[in-house]
Amino acid sequence: MFKEYFQYKGLSFPQVIYAEPVLQMVEKDFQVRDDDIFNVTYQKSGTVWMLEILSLIRSNGDPAWCQTTPNWDRGPWIETVIGYRTAVANKSPRIISSHLPARLFAKSFFRSKAKMIYTVRNPKDVLVSLYHFASMFHPYKDPGTLDQFLEDFLKGDVPFGSWFDHVKGWMNLKDKENFFFITYEELQEDLRGSIVRISKFLGKDLDDAAIDSVVANASFESMKSNKMSNFSLTPKFIMNQKKSAFFRKGISGDWKNHLTKAQSECFDHVYHERLQDLGVTFPWDKK
Ligand code: A3P
Repeated sequence: MFKEYFQYKGLSFPQVIYAEPVLQMVEKDFQVRDDDIFNVTYQKSGTVWMLEILSLIRSNGDPAWCQTTPNWDRGPWIETVIGYRTAVANKSPRIISSHLPARLFAKSFFRSKAKMIYTVRNPKDVLVSLYHFASMFHPYKDPGTLDQFLEDFLKGDVPFGSWFDHVKGWMNLKDKENFFFITYEELQEDLRGSIVRISKFLGKDLDDAAIDSVVANASFESMKSNKMSNFSLTPKFIMNQKKSAFFRKGISGDWKNHLTKAQSECFDHVYHERLQDLGVTFPWDKK
């Protein structure tokens, strides 16, 4: 079972944790509520970071919820078998996480007033982060050499498919009132300012002390040492953090320590070809 993928509408999903009937239910049956808050990303783009920020904003800066409840219960990944059940059962206002591309997402979202935060990260850092993740997350296939993995990533031949398709699909919503996009790099540059912007988008008026608490409790160090957020409660047969920690480096630009000049240029070539019509400039495009 482990390390085998099944195909669903052109995407690969691991055999454990995911199941086709659940993916169908997400798309067709899941009832989005107008006060739902969706935390959507391509994997390794800062999902759990945003989940912590949203959990803390929901609690007005009080860290108690984050310190007592695992992140997968606070903001379940709707496409997983267990996450779907948790999301259906959770009380409003729900936080729901997802790595699904827009074309496979809950249809009822697009008719709702639910809010979505979409976090995007420099795809070269996503590649490096995913490369390490694939070596410690046992449902994923061994990534092989970085050169092989780069090729798979650029082709979209990895779970959840192409980063380019994901970003293009979701960024179609960029002018919608209930859609807010932010980058991992902006969170890095100005965490406080980003939290203020996210709170405003969510209609939450937090005072300075509450914002300070969100900033402190969503820092890399706080999260890395919080067992409700650092996946140390995940069984070892799913994640082996001795191979690579989930909270690995938490920096921008680590790709420069991994990709050769030729690999980086190959990436740039595909990036420009695939995203030239997007009409959005990301922080890494300016450098
Ligand atoms: P690295 O592997 O580059 O360290 P996701 O949650 O989407 O799986 O993303 C995981 C990545 O986000 C990892 O990147 C992880 O270290 C980083 N991350 C998680 N929390 C963070 C935080 N509070 N600050 C900075 N980076 C964080």
